Amino acid sequence: MNHLLELQLTINNEPLTLRVPFSETLLELLRHRLQLTSAKDGCDTGECGACTVLLNGQPVNACMLLAAQANQCHVTTIEGIQDAELGLHPVQRAFIKCDAVQCGYCTAGMILSTIAMLEETNAPSPQQIQRLLESHACACGVYPQWQKAIKYAGKDMESNHAS
Ligand code: FES
Ligand code: FES
Repeated sequence: MNHLLELQLTINNEPLTLRVPFSETLLELLRHRLQLTSAKDGCDTGECGACTVLLNGQPVNACMLLAAQANQCHVTTIEGIQDAELGLHPVQRAFIKCDAVQCGYCTAGMILSTIAMLEETNAPSPQQIQRLLESHACACGVYPQWQKAIKYAGKDMESNHAS
């Protein structure tokens, strides 16, 4: 028998109470129950990063977490990062500016991981950038453009904080 659990969590700034099967993953909850389909089911084994979302601001593979593990947490998907007044997030703008998008399958996860890193430092080290690049698989190979977008967004976010 698959027992239902009651969860209280905040998704994209909206507080929710949900009853979900114990075995449901966070990715299943987002994609199938809430129709937040930006997080993709690429490998389902924690390898590709396509399912990345932010859990309390930190990137996680939603395919590897039970929804129950997000209880009392804040979950952010790409659907929740735009500013009502300012529009696209600076990292989204940087991805467009630097052509870091081709088919788009991996893009939401890459953007969320980039946001988490740049929230910690606007000027990540080459090693930090390399670790980030290695945590997401991109069949289209946009790694050089993604690298440019990280630097572009870092400068943009730094000047926004300074002004
Ligand atoms: S679908 Fe989760 S890491 Fe690939
Ligand atoms: S842009 Fe196509 S898989 Fe990354």
